[in-house]
Amino acid sequence: MRRVTVRDIGEMKARGEKIPMVTAYDYPTARLAEAADIPMLLVGDSLGMVVLGYDSTIPVTMEDMLHHVKAVARGAKKALIVADLPFMTHQVDIAQALTNAGRMVQEGGAQAVKLEGGECVAETVRRVVSCGIPVMGHIGLTPQSVNAFGGYRVQGRCRREAAQLLRDAQALEAAGAFSVVLELVPTPLAGLISQRLSIPTIGIGAGPACDGQVQVLHDMLGMFTDFVPKHAKQYAHLAQTAQEALADYAKEVREGCFPTDKESFTMDEAVLRELGDL
Ligand code: KIV
Repeated sequence: MRRVTVRDIGEMKARGEKIPMVTAYDYPTARLAEAADIPMLLVGDSLGMVVLGYDSTIPVTMEDMLHHVKAVARGAKKALIVADLPFMTHQVDIAQALTNAGRMVQEGGAQAVKLEGGECVAETVRRVVSCGIPVMGHIGLTPQSVNAFGGYRVQGRCRREAAQLLRDAQALEAAGAFSVVLELVPTPLAGLISQRLSIPTIGIGAGPACDGQVQVLHDMLGMFTDFVPKHAKQYAHLAQTAQEALADYAKEVREGCFPTDKESFTMDEAVLRELGDL
């Protein structure tokens, strides 16, 4: 069983084969995604919201990420694992970016990193790639800049923003990124960017013309109930299933119906009798 490589991902675009990607945050979710034959997993800093309970991705640290990347690496032996560089772990200077990208690969066990930004991070991307670490870009709505955007809004609707997004995508490709996430970008613009780039675009809220799609696992499985973003499709309602199961369990414990003999263990009656004599 050979691991999927960035070259494989590029060849999927060349063949016109759509690329499914999903986030994974720990061993069981990595195993589930891999069993579903998903070729590329993102250990996204979205874990700050859907796993750690923050209200944005901004508080997520390198140590948080490494903890989760390592668990995903233990669970996924075939998929390409992309690790997000969290807020302010690559922006200070190139040395910081190289150190942290290196940690994701060397300590975490990821095969690639993702970092948010376009033209302004192109030099960082070039340097990380030149060290042998594949980079996935991320433009459009970049959640680490939510305070600057003033909310989670669609990007690139006006001419100025659309032209900038196209330049950002081209700068990332020129810098050596192996693919680029387009988040909350209007469908026609995402289509145009996807046509202009030779590397795959991976959309989230960017319509069907992207070369691949990425979804946050907890959104698509209905595990995160605080809110459901418009771009997410719920393929299951696991939170509801889990809540029903937990309520059944609590009821059975209260009523003395759980555990039964089936979930319990026997012992030699003679040993018990001897204890009774003590
Ligand atoms: O952190 C994440 O899950 C992401 C996706 C939304 C692309 O960056």
